[in-house]
Amino acid sequence: MKRLTVDLGERSYPIVIGKDILGQLPQELADRGITSKNRLLIVTDHQVAPLYLERVQSILTLAGYEHAFHVISAGEQAKTLSVLEEVTGSALKAGLDRKSVFIALGGGVVGDLTGFCAATYMRGVPFVQIPTTLLAHDSSVGGKVAVNHPMGKNIIGAFHQPSLVLYDTETLKTLPPREIYAGFAEVIKHGLIWSESFTDWLEQHAENLLALQSPYIDEAIYQGCLIKSQVVSEDETEQGKRAILNLGHTFGHAMESLSHYGGLIHGEAVAIGMVAAAVLAERIGICDPNQNVSSRTIELLKKFQLPVQIPAQFQPDALLEAMRLDKKGSGGKLVFVLPKSIGAVEIVRDVPEDEVIQVLKLVKEVE
Ligand code: NAD
Ligand code: GLY
Repeated sequence: MKRLTVDLGERSYPIVIGKDILGQLPQELADRGITSKNRLLIVTDHQVAPLYLERVQSILTLAGYEHAFHVISAGEQAKTLSVLEEVTGSALKAGLDRKSVFIALGGGVVGDLTGFCAATYMRGVPFVQIPTTLLAHDSSVGGKVAVNHPMGKNIIGAFHQPSLVLYDTETLKTLPPREIYAGFAEVIKHGLIWSESFTDWLEQHAENLLALQSPYIDEAIYQGCLIKSQVVSEDETEQGKRAILNLGHTFGHAMESLSHYGGLIHGEAVAIGMVAAAVLAERIGICDPNQNVSSRTIELLKKFQLPVQIPAQFQPDALLEAMRLDKKGSGGKLVFVLPKSIGAVEIVRDVPEDEVIQVLKLVKEVE
């Protein structure tokens, strides 16, 4: 079992990563001051519920915690204000008060939605993340919580840090392969923004990682969480540095938004977005094309079975328009996180729009 701390003063919290550690939930809750006096609402989705809800409930019941649950539908389309209202209704019916705690049991959708629900319920109550997807090593850490608006992803949200992240890696074994691949997009992102040696290690151990073999998968999650927690500890509310975590996201969110959150899944969109970022960086001289950053990025993503090409249905003009709406723009200007080399990125403003269009056209042809 591995532990690390997101260091945020009085809002600091532990991330606990290990195999078969769900049973430690009551002790970890108690260590965070959440006792059987606090009423709990577990939020999960309809795919995770049959797999893990009963187990979590019986662990909590045995430890004397009163709890209710709410099951949302699975997938990005559930990240809406109307689902948030339903979850809030369940919390009210279950008698949750200002001392109550929400528990997010699931992937990034459940985590983002539940976190935002906790941020707004009676002006804010604590919440706990129990991530069950690989991608959620990223989403469960750092306190960005949100729902989508039809015009843009994560537009309605808050910064609300969890009190605890309890990551039982055994839950990953039931993930469909496509979700495993998508999760690796965010693991690779952490390597690309922060550490060439971690990126090399991912390249070397792709097979072990895709098979979710220990100790490789535990180490990948630990390193990903460590990188994320270091960045978040330096810049909790994205005044500057935290934006580096958005590598690939300006392009990726545009594709997700244009497909109304029903086509590419988040990790896939980020993967293609990271290719676009690398191609753009080479074109405008942020990185030296001789360093082969775009070709290495493409090969690495392909090793993890991730898409690297913008699908045919997305037109460059429409993507550019969606990017203008993305909140990662600033003062109407597009903001991109671009690689300087493998393991280092730069935040770049004022990229000419015709360059972006050229890149979108190029990435539609990448193979
Ligand atoms: P998800 O929550 O939709 O989960 C993916 C699918 O896997 C769902 O169908 C779910 O039901 C299923 N599933 C979950 N756990 C399972 C398990 N153990 N076994 C079998 N099936 C399981 O998606 P995700 O990829 O985890 O998260 C994507 C979301 O995270 C996006 O909305 C994205 O915007 C958000 N995100 C947020 C942050 C952040 O910092 N808050 C960072 C990255 C991504
Ligand atoms: N996923 C971007 C962030 O957490 O800041």
